[in-house]
Amino acid sequence: MIEARLNGRWRSALSLALAAGATLAVAGCTNDSSPAQSANLVNGKQLFVQKCGACHTMARAGSKGVTGPNLDEAFASARQENWGDDGIRGVVYGQILYPNQNAPMPANLVTGQDASDVAAYVSTVAAKPGKDVGLLASAVAPAGGGKPAVEKNGVLSISADPNGQLLYVETTATATPGPVELEMPNESGVPHNIVIENAGIETPVIKNGVAKAKGTLKAGTFVYFCAVPGHRQAGMVGKLTVR
Ligand code: HEC
Repeated sequence: MIEARLNGRWRSALSLALAAGATLAVAGCTNDSSPAQSANLVNGKQLFVQKCGACHTMARAGSKGVTGPNLDEAFASARQENWGDDGIRGVVYGQILYPNQNAPMPANLVTGQDASDVAAYVSTVAAKPGKDVGLLASAVAPAGGGKPAVEKNGVLSISADPNGQLLYVETTATATPGPVELEMPNESGVPHNIVIENAGIETPVIKNGVAKAKGTLKAGTFVYFCAVPGHRQAGMVGKLTVR
């Protein structure tokens, strides 16, 4: 598969990207310590997590999406063949502008300088071991570290990660038996919902808003999860204790 990509689609993506060379040259500084470059990579990482990570796994970004290819695996052979960051950046940039029209990746999720920044970030970290350091390490707030959610006046509120990572802010929750209004605020642009398993409570899938559902809870321990394909597997789950 990778061979085919290198010989086919990627080659055309690369030439498209080279045709857009002026833009790339602006972001093409290879000195990691330059402040301008750092700012671009920080922006690139933040946008990658918000706009791309829900579909793509990439270890350095902490993203776990499974709709599209794992980008560490996708670029492993390119690294071995010494394409360098610049070659990989060209492919990513081309993919952002001209994804395969028959695949579920929308074109122009990011545009202009933002597209260059995302391509620069991916090319700097994809298929590389280790962790992001310096400004990049703190570019995206760690997800999932919230205090347990506690039902209050019949309302149980469990938020999706506001940066679009595939996690709930609260990974444990408590409630009392009886009627409940379940709420899931989701500030991100990544669609999510929340289902309480074996309790018959499920909100609609939403983004940039608050999903709600009503139901009745019995005593016990329940799993809650996001039903958007791939999100539960990526870790968008939690544990609800009703007592
Ligand atoms: C809705 C899900 C989705 C989103 C969001 C998404 N992608 Fe994709 N992406 C895919 C799929 C599916 C493919 C495989 C497409 C194909 O085979 O033609 C893909 C392919 C790619 C590839 C080529 C990988 C390869 O193995 O050939 C790159 C690079 C890529 N995406 C980068 C990005 C970046 C950067 C973003 C954010 C700006 C992004 N994607 C957002 C679904 C997505």
